[in-house]
Amino acid sequence: MIRADACAKIILCGEHAVVYGQPAIAMPVSSLRAVAAAEPADILRFALEDLDESFTLDSDSPIASLARQVCETLHIAPPPLTIRLKSAIPIASGLGSGAAIAAAVARVLFRAAGQSPDNERINALVYESEKLYHGTPSGIDNTVVVYEQPVYFIRDKPIETIKIQGEFHFIAADTGIAAPTKISVGDVRRLYESGRERIQPILEAIGVISRQVRAALESGDAAAMGKLMFENHVLLQQLTVSSLELDHLVEAALKAGAMGAKLSGGGRGGNMIALVTPDTAAPVKTALLSAGAVRVFETGLSGTGA
Ligand code: PMV
Repeated sequence: MIRADACAKIILCGEHAVVYGQPAIAMPVSSLRAVAAAEPADILRFALEDLDESFTLDSDSPIASLARQVCETLHIAPPPLTIRLKSAIPIASGLGSGAAIAAAVARVLFRAAGQSPDNERINALVYESEKLYHGTPSGIDNTVVVYEQPVYFIRDKPIETIKIQGEFHFIAADTGIAAPTKISVGDVRRLYESGRERIQPILEAIGVISRQVRAALESGDAAAMGKLMFENHVLLQQLTVSSLELDHLVEAALKAGAMGAKLSGGGRGGNMIALVTPDTAAPVKTALLSAGAVRVFETGLSGTGA
């Protein structure tokens, strides 16, 4: 059996503005993973274990399309394998589940072809498949998921990694509302087209926050980071991508002692993220669950990486 996997990701700041050339920061969530396991079969087939679904290479699933691209890139005939996919990453909640599944499938196909799955090639393939999910993705999701490192990301620029000082603890909470990123990205696009002079300054203010968040990470300044996270949330509200549920969770986290909180990812539903300390982690978790979060998990960044 050949296996490969990939992690989830969460955006710390800069979402949406990143589509318009502003910087954003995202981090891997190594505890949540998608796994692809390949075993010999008659033809290439995919089995989605969690959904009890299976399909072949001619399907219109983005996974089949990615697999066709991988075979083309590697100049190989589709290998006769069943690729079983299992993922602990909730879908449509801003955690990069599509990118992680695509990365795991691409890696397993590289391995099956006897090639080592180098990140640069896998990233390019996963980016192509992200386009099928999101329309005009900035590329941040695939980059963090494939490299599994916190990144400072500017569209079409070389990837910059961040040297983190100290430790940052986060609690992420899921509203339980599935909100496709494609829709909120499209809505922000319409807002932008209908009033650039009003929207451009909001996007630029988010860009300034991302630069300041990077400085806070690089100097270990959690207090500054907390403040910046909430400022970013307010700007995302102005872009109309928050929701009552997200605002409610952000407020609940702050009331319970979080140093900062904001929605994370496409918005409207999906996840929010709160900055905590080891002491406030438990009360913030409890507050988020009683405020209606369907799932919470801890993640963090430290001097050694994720
Ligand atoms: O996949 P999500 O929901 O974490 O959102 C991706 C971030 C956006 O900036 C909203 C879109 C993009 O392509 O960067």
